Amino acid sequence: MNKDPQTTLDRLHQLELRNEVAFAGGGPERQTKHKQGDRLTARERLDVLLDPGSFVEVDRFVTHRCTNFGMENNQFPGDGVITGYGRVNGKLVYVYSQDFTVLGGSMSRTQANKICKIMDLAIRNGAPLIGLNDSGGARIQEGVEALGGYGDIFLRNVTGSGVIPQISAIMGPCAGGAVYSPSLTDFIFMVKDTSYMFVTGPDVIKAVTHEEVSKEELGGALTHNQKSGVAHFAADNDKHCLLLIRELLSFLPGNNLDEIPILPTKDSPDRMEESLNSFIPDSSKKPYDMKELITKVVDEGYFLETQQHYAQNVIVGFARFNGRSVGIVANQPAVLAGCLNISASVKAARFVRFCDAFNIPIVTFVDVPGFLPGTDQEWSGIITHGAKLLYAYVEATVPKVTLITRKAYGGAYDVMSSKHLRGDVNLAYPTAEIAVMGAEGAVNIIFRQAIKAAADPVEEKNRLVNDYESKFANPYIAAEVGYIDEVIEPAMTRKRIIDSLEMLKNKRDHNPPKKHGNIPL
Ligand code: HXC
Repeated sequence: MNKDPQTTLDRLHQLELRNEVAFAGGGPERQTKHKQGDRLTARERLDVLLDPGSFVEVDRFVTHRCTNFGMENNQFPGDGVITGYGRVNGKLVYVYSQDFTVLGGSMSRTQANKICKIMDLAIRNGAPLIGLNDSGGARIQEGVEALGGYGDIFLRNVTGSGVIPQISAIMGPCAGGAVYSPSLTDFIFMVKDTSYMFVTGPDVIKAVTHEEVSKEELGGALTHNQKSGVAHFAADNDKHCLLLIRELLSFLPGNNLDEIPILPTKDSPDRMEESLNSFIPDSSKKPYDMKELITKVVDEGYFLETQQHYAQNVIVGFARFNGRSVGIVANQPAVLAGCLNISASVKAARFVRFCDAFNIPIVTFVDVPGFLPGTDQEWSGIITHGAKLLYAYVEATVPKVTLITRKAYGGAYDVMSSKHLRGDVNLAYPTAEIAVMGAEGAVNIIFRQAIKAAADPVEEKNRLVNDYESKFANPYIAAEVGYIDEVIEPAMTRKRIIDSLEMLKNKRDHNPPKKHGNIPL
């Protein structure tokens, strides 16, 4: 069929005009206001996040159907969210980016439909989902339709959990429903000074509880990275946030059936790290920085720590050994002596479960004097929360390599990926101390009467402490019974971890078939 060329040109022009309107979001005035400081627009964010030229937009012209409160005259193509797919470091990802300049990025029935379409594609095609959130929550004019939209998103967050990695960036004031979808995803990024998360904002809090609190204090990036543990990363600005997401994705597979990424490295797998032979202090009471140890042994010293501001007595994050991604869990003797408390247990447990869901081997560095004692911990449920970490390690069927650098006491010895929880390779330094508890505590309990009855109780106690230390403050009893596979020279840490991971790379292990377990939530 012949077409009039003028008509075709007209149609192309019409498309161009429609695109222009869509690209303008909420209009120049709102965009200028939005861009104050280092903030980027919803589209600019996608430009930074994705490989250049890789973004393909879906549903650009979709509009809402609401007619309440004159909304039929308040239409914007795309309805406040840009959805589509693109590439990060060459790998497929699905994305949505809310546009605060359009009705405050609020969640309408239409916006939810667009996001759900992308989520369905991500789950069906096995690629990560990244949500850039900037929304005032449920679109108030739409009532239950907006709530229903959120519900549909939550459903997909949960069914997709453990199938594809889901990442949320909070890039503006996110209130109400806008925080629940992110909380169901695997990692939350926040931007300092410009992003907030709260279920109810300062005004509602003031009305209900009479508490006065600023937005920043209530739900700013540092609040959620330091206090609540809701967020995993605090970025300096929008661009930093988006580049950090790219960084994180470089460690992750596209889905739960994918192989983990392997990146070429110039760091030799046989590299000996002589400085580690004198790294652990002579006194077992002296702290040291476990992060320094980690960076000495991983590829090129690169460690991407998650939740670095929260529960710092435990360290979690991603690194590579001989190019292969691993998840690292480590006690931090420099904070609270590396004790496990409620927040540390929950932080590490969630991380272990993420790694296990996505086939990422777990390397655990142990220096733990036990669970943190105290009424606060007991009354807040350390029994239940500590058990989460135990549960997560037991359940994990990925390769598990454990290295005890110094203390591994009590229940915490068992919990930290011990042989008894299906640790595959369990290593120890000669400085390891594996016992039910530290010498002082042990002697006070088992020799209380003997110390009291001694002619010189102080001297007797010292003698018994020395005796206990020479018997238990070493890795050899555990090595004699096979709970430790090898006591290694610290200099060979990198080599031996890589040997272990290579040996385990085809590991297959399964839990008994069940609907799901009942983790102590
Ligand atoms: C419709 C909204 C909106 C919303 C903001 N806007 N939130 N429109 N529904 N939820 C609109 C505003 O009317 C305004 O439109 C524009 O977005 C920008 O908003 P401002 O208030 O001018 O911006 P700012 O001062 O930066 O304040 C941002 C904010 C505030 C803190 C997010 O807008 C706010 O408090 N919004 C309401 C938050 C909230 O309570 N949401 C409902 C939560 S209940 P104009 O045209 O003037 O530019 C919920 C239930 C879901 O989400 C539960 C599911 C489990």
